[in-house]
Amino acid sequence: MEGLPRLRLALIFSVVAYLLVLVRSSSPSSPELQIVSAERRIDLTSHIVRVYLTLKVENNGNSPASEVLLAFPPTQIDHIALVKAAAVFGKKKKKSYLPLDVNPTDLPDGPNGTKYFCILLSKPLGMGESITLEVFYTLTHSLEPFPVEISQSETQLVYYRDGAAILSPYHIKQQITLIKTPSTKVESFTRVEPVYHAGTEIKYGPYSEHPPYSFSPILVHFENDNPFAVVEELVRELEISHWGSIQITEHYKLVHAGARHKGVFSRVEYQSRPSFSGVSSFKLLLARLPPRVHSVYYRDEIGNISSSHLRTDSRKSELEIEPRYPLFGGWKTTFIIGYGLPLQDFLFESPDGRRYLNFTFGCPLAETLVDKLTIKVVLPEGSKNPSAAVPFPVEQHLETKYSYLDVVGRTVVVLEKKNVVPEHNSPFQVYYEFNPIFMLAEPLMLASVFFLFFMACVAYLHVDVSIRK
Ligand SMILES: *[C@@H]1O[C@H](CO)[C@@H](O)[C@H](O)[C@H]1NC(C)=O
Ligand SMILES: *[C@@H]1O[C@H](CO)[C@@H](O)[C@H](O)[C@H]1NC(C)=O
Repeated sequence: MEGLPRLRLALIFSVVAYLLVLVRSSSPSSPELQIVSAERRIDLTSHIVRVYLTLKVENNGNSPASEVLLAFPPTQIDHIALVKAAAVFGKKKKKSYLPLDVNPTDLPDGPNGTKYFCILLSKPLGMGESITLEVFYTLTHSLEPFPVEISQSETQLVYYRDGAAILSPYHIKQQITLIKTPSTKVESFTRVEPVYHAGTEIKYGPYSEHPPYSFSPILVHFENDNPFAVVEELVRELEISHWGSIQITEHYKLVHAGARHKGVFSRVEYQSRPSFSGVSSFKLLLARLPPRVHSVYYRDEIGNISSSHLRTDSRKSELEIEPRYPLFGGWKTTFIIGYGLPLQDFLFESPDGRRYLNFTFGCPLAETLVDKLTIKVVLPEGSKNPSAAVPFPVEQHLETKYSYLDVVGRTVVVLEKKNVVPEHNSPFQVYYEFNPIFMLAEPLMLASVFFLFFMACVAYLHVDVSIRK
């Protein structure tokens, strides 16, 4: 008879659970958010598009809301390199920001293939409450050159596509969009009244009472003579030597991703009329390196390139490099930069006794987009249990590298990320355990090799001598 009470209890539980399910499914959409006011600033002055959104979100529903959704058209989603969000407290000068987590989210019922990012609020937004959010995101490969091909004397025109109003799953009461162009030369833009163009700014709105998922496509055609510097592939190898330095080797595959160059390249015209000729090409690249770099070199497949200038001060080093020929739209070049850094600036000991490297992620070239970045951290021989801490999702795996005198090989922590923008240049750490006895391995090995060689010589001489006798 012992089983009976248990059975009754189980029965009660399942009835209660069933009732709960009923209650939940019958109550209509729980938190009901709306955007009271929204401002969007789209910065098109570079070849990387940067968008700043300020949203005042209000909860009109009957339960607290713990997340806010951002919607993106399917054509934009693959070009998003980074999305950041923060809650804003206080007004004007006393503003403070609380960074919030943002994650891509799959919702099955997005109209027209809408994709979402979800902002997790630090504390739920109660009924009738409102919060101000600031969102920042970057879009890559989103300016389309038109005309597709230009000659050396032409300027570069591009298209940018978006919506006049912000795409959102929520009702937006008041909104405005400001688009900033690099110059006043705007060929055309879609008119969605009220729209206003002055100087380098196009203003869409204010629009009021837009229902969820309102979308009115716009096309802006404007001049953008920025060098579209895209590194198709960058491999950075950081080799840690406990003997005092970090050696860095960076392999670049660079392309000018702007309008393709047509016709022949005239160096005479290029050099005699620099302000009219090849305005969107680039002849200089700037690499920002850490302070105290040494043994800097810059070479391509032909050999060392001497036309580079290094300026250093106590905070940073700037390496100005000049490829062998100026780069026009569609042209590619590959090159290698190498440098050494003092170990004590980047290698530290954590409280638990492990060592860690603290270095900057991303690409040292200014205002450059990297399609595929690989960072390889080569740990000293004998390192154990490596782990990496990167502030955004990256792919990770381990490899082993052998260099001369290595016995067991060096562990290499490999970090890979696609679609990297300058905003990804933030510190990351690689932790590992290391027994200092391993530092003696190579000298000991060398010493024993010499000793054996010496012994062999002695033995040989000894034998030799004994024969002659
Ligand atoms: C290139 O320059 C670096 C550093 O100055 C030097 O170590 C290297 O030997 C040079 N290589 C060639 C091929 O000249
Ligand atoms: C890494 O270095 C940055 C500055 O370059 C510093 O702000 C940060 O606190 C360091 N992180 C760790 C874990 O030491």
